[in-house]
Amino acid sequence: MKIEVLSLFPDFFDSFLASSMVARAISKSALTVESYDIRAHATNKHHQVDDYPYGGFAGMVGMIQPLWDALKARLQSGNAPVIYFSPQGRPLKQKILCDYALEPRVILICGHYKEIDQRFRRLGVSDEISIGDYVLSGGELAAEVFIDGVARLLPGVLSDIDSAKSDSFYGNSLGFPCYTRPPEFLKQGVPEVLLSGNHAKIDEWARAEAEKITRIRRPDLLPQGD
Ligand code: ADE
Repeated sequence: MKIEVLSLFPDFFDSFLASSMVARAISKSALTVESYDIRAHATNKHHQVDDYPYGGFAGMVGMIQPLWDALKARLQSGNAPVIYFSPQGRPLKQKILCDYALEPRVILICGHYKEIDQRFRRLGVSDEISIGDYVLSGGELAAEVFIDGVARLLPGVLSDIDSAKSDSFYGNSLGFPCYTRPPEFLKQGVPEVLLSGNHAKIDEWARAEAEKITRIRRPDLLPQGD
């Protein structure tokens, strides 16, 4: 999979791409990530990429021209889904990550300022995604969330794909509690069933625990009527 990111801060991604699961995906050639500077496409004298909003509102708006030219340059090598990150986007879910993990190529647009010109969103963007009900100062962190979430789903990246299958949200639930050595710490033990070696019982325990925590913390995830 190839992900191309358009941003005013293309260096923002350097350390992110060099560590953890994303770096692993890149080193295994499952993923390529390239970041491009939107400002490089500004045609005015001061390389301006934002301007005051029509209507006299507060804040600045990302101008359509640099965004449009930056996107056109990427699309010269063929079409691809174009995602813009915004608090107005559809809430990011595991299912969305799973769907995009099947795409060979995705283009991500990171905005700044108040928003970007609505005409760019209409003409250039195929999907808008929000990572939560809060406002960040730019789309870069949201893009990193997206890239990390997709990278670990690409074939050959996780050494144990069963790990992804028992993640929170893989079914309709949160994950179950996990324990590792030592078997006792500060008088806190480990549920006995986990030490029993009885895999049927262990699976049953994990399912029940996942359901319990989901019922308490995120009942909205459970199938209606449960
Ligand atoms: N840009 C600013 N805030 C954001 C959010 N909550 N999600 C996605 N992109 C954003």
